[in-house]
Amino acid sequence: MTIERTFGIVKPDAVAKNAVGGVVDLVEKTGLKIVGLRLMRLSEPQARAFYAVHKERPFYGDLVRFMTSGPCVVMAIEGENAVARYREVMGPTDSKKAPAGTIRGAYGTDIEKNAVHGSDGPDTAKAELAFFFAGLELA
Ligand code: RTP
Ligand code: MG
Repeated sequence: MTIERTFGIVKPDAVAKNAVGGVVDLVEKTGLKIVGLRLMRLSEPQARAFYAVHKERPFYGDLVRFMTSGPCVVMAIEGENAVARYREVMGPTDSKKAPAGTIRGAYGTDIEKNAVHGSDGPDTAKAELAFFFAGLELA
């Protein structure tokens, strides 16, 4: 059994609707552990760098504006197969297509305002954890 870590964000839409506890509850109910948690506001350069992979996409500008529109909560999440299991509990990118019982189904609004981010693989998880938790001790 391989214990893995992944990185998550409770996005500004979900923080604004007081859904931080609800998101954490769904993560914990899957059996994953929160090992780092921090409320912060992303600067524009941070949001641009974080989503640089999408910089040629038509939604990039809107996405950066959305991610800097209010505070968010960054999370380090640990458990067996954590990357895939957290992506599963998040649900699909488009909240309108997300099943009940997933985070996006419960708290997302549409394809952009979709409540949470999750790393898409073990390598991006490592890079994203380093980006947001550098110098901070994880549990
Ligand atoms: P994330 O990176 O935030 O965990 O989400 P994801 O893997 O499910 O989706 P991705 O394709 O990486 O897109 C990143 C974020 O960009 C916004 N988006 N807007 N307007 C649009 O068509 C559109 N498509 C994506 C969403 O906030 C999405 O989570
Ligand atoms: Mg993604």
